[in-house]
Amino acid sequence: MKKRLLSGIKPTGELHIGNYFGALKQFIDLQNDYEAFVFIADYHALNFIQNKSEMQTLSRSIAASYIACGLDPEKVVLFKQSDISAHTELFTIFTSITTMPYLMRAHAFKDAEAKNKDISVGTFNYPLLMASDILLYSPQVVPVGQDQKQHIEIARDTALKFNRIFNEEVFTSPEPLIIESVKTVPGLDGQKMSKSYNNVIPLFGTDEVIERACMSVVTNSNAKGTRNDPGDTLFTLISLFVNESEKVALKDRYETGELGYKEAKELLSSKIIEFITPLREKYTSLLQKPDYIDSVLENGAKKANKIASEKLLQAKVAIGVTN
Ligand code: ADP
Ligand code: TRP
Repeated sequence: MKKRLLSGIKPTGELHIGNYFGALKQFIDLQNDYEAFVFIADYHALNFIQNKSEMQTLSRSIAASYIACGLDPEKVVLFKQSDISAHTELFTIFTSITTMPYLMRAHAFKDAEAKNKDISVGTFNYPLLMASDILLYSPQVVPVGQDQKQHIEIARDTALKFNRIFNEEVFTSPEPLIIESVKTVPGLDGQKMSKSYNNVIPLFGTDEVIERACMSVVTNSNAKGTRNDPGDTLFTLISLFVNESEKVALKDRYETGELGYKEAKELLSSKIIEFITPLREKYTSLLQKPDYIDSVLENGAKKANKIASEKLLQAKVAIGVTN
């Protein structure tokens, strides 16, 4: 029997290369070896996107990105979180066995609260909905970027706590799959690349957008000919798009300063454009076929619902609300 993989991305904006290398690429690379469930976390996005047409457009855009980048809808179960009501039902159960002080220790909550005291209940509860997303499918692995590590730990704690309270092994503990070299892809300013920091290279940007973004990657103020740091943001981004031997050769030239910043930025944008052009064509053509995308998601929802509703039933029996 194949092991199971599950992950999701929330439709809060267009995907960027951090999402691709940190998460999506793992789904694609592992789709043949695992029974894979990949979804669109639209209820998570509702904390950020509160507009009907934006929600619809962004959800379809994530689905189109999944398929354009190489997830095969025949192999992978692709679905929308909101289509499976077991997610929100299990979430309700989890809210009763989780304490407020425990959730208040979550980094994402603390960050959100530091920015704005008026955070939504949905933002506070975010990790419990995510625990439900995961635990309904009993996946062995959950591929994510480093920023999601604590959320997976909360899912593990919640599984153990539920089993302990109700004295039954209903849920299994998932492991995060975080690839060291891409666990936090840096953005244009050197911080983590994120839709919310305005520092992204969009995965499906036009050539011009990609070129402009690459030219604005932060660098030291070294003059051409001085030594550069191959651990800096610019070289880290270049490394994502070249093979190992190219990387070694470029690293030498970069370190000695023979490859200057301007040339390195041009190299980065040409590598990204070369990589993204065929995927962008597929993505653009998929966006013209919303009925096809919707049918893939409907199909996926049927398969996901089967697994999720069985697990929910086990949980409801364990807590004593159903026989
Ligand atoms: P964002 O921070 O841009 O809003 P999401 O929270 O929607 O991105 O992330 C979707 C997936 O992509 C998650 O698994 C997340 O960990 C991963 N991810 C996001 N940004 C990065 C990054 N800069 N480096 C590595 N992985 C990332
Ligand atoms: N919280 C994740 C993010 O911000 C998205 C997500 C929701 C998710 N549910 C999940 C990821 C379940 C993995 C598993 O990126």
